[in-house]
Amino acid sequence: KMGRTSVPELRARKGSEPIVCLTAYTMPMAQRLDEHCDLLLVGDSLGMVVYGMDSTLAVTVDMMINHGKAVMRGSKNACVVVDLPFGSYQESKEQAFRTASRILAETGCAAVKLEGGAELAETIAFLSQRGVPVMAHIGLMPQQVNTMGGFKSQGRGDEAAEKVVNDAIAVAKAGAFSVVIEGTVEAVARRITETIDIPTIGIGASVACDGQVLVTEDILGLFSDFTPKFVKRYANLGDAISEAVGTYASEVRNRQFPADEHCFGVPNKGKLRAV
Ligand code: KIV
Ligand code: NA
Repeated sequence: KMGRTSVPELRARKGSEPIVCLTAYTMPMAQRLDEHCDLLLVGDSLGMVVYGMDSTLAVTVDMMINHGKAVMRGSKNACVVVDLPFGSYQESKEQAFRTASRILAETGCAAVKLEGGAELAETIAFLSQRGVPVMAHIGLMPQQVNTMGGFKSQGRGDEAAEKVVNDAIAVAKAGAFSVVIEGTVEAVARRITETIDIPTIGIGASVACDGQVLVTEDILGLFSDFTPKFVKRYANLGDAISEAVGTYASEVRNRQFPADEHCFGVPNKGKLRAV
């Protein structure tokens, strides 16, 4: 198939083949993920994962645009969605449109994601009716860490379950093309997935969802400041980096590196490369 997976194509995947999604922040990582993923999410989790911030709250629109451009350069098949960072959309639907249209125009990404349920329905409708496809994000919303008092799983108990289900129905009705459900109990994620007609993308929301997303650095063992229960580690690249850099450091200290073949103007068996 030529060209990127489109928003309508993703939406049409509801109830069929699971949607594969991972986060991407950089060009080289996007290149690796692009051949396997339907969707690459430039998540504001980059504030914590790449910049070492304590939360996602200080991430800016300019940061999202720069990383969004890098991910677009590194990918050619996946649908790329960029997060709207905290403070760039909650004030009004007009503010949300200004931010989102700038992100779409400057990065070339296909859609934006924003955190919020029923309270953001008006904003989601405003954007999606004006050419900005919106992915919603409900359940655990990291941008609300201060009102929620930490990163806690959602949907426990009848009232909490009802809230997440109502949020899902509201964002779907408002025109979101898909919704991320984060850190939410299985029964609720299942009920939502069976109830709404747009694909649900789960992160800590069970296998019942129409697709899955995780933070790439979490599954590769490249970020260990905070590892939620829902992360599965598929590799330990952090250890591989430590080992490689340790070897480099000792070879520099022992004058083993660089060897003749890495040097210019030193006769050796290796081929001379143009300068
Ligand atoms: O910022 C992020 O990476 C996200 C996903 C993990 C859903 O919002
Ligand atoms: Na996010």
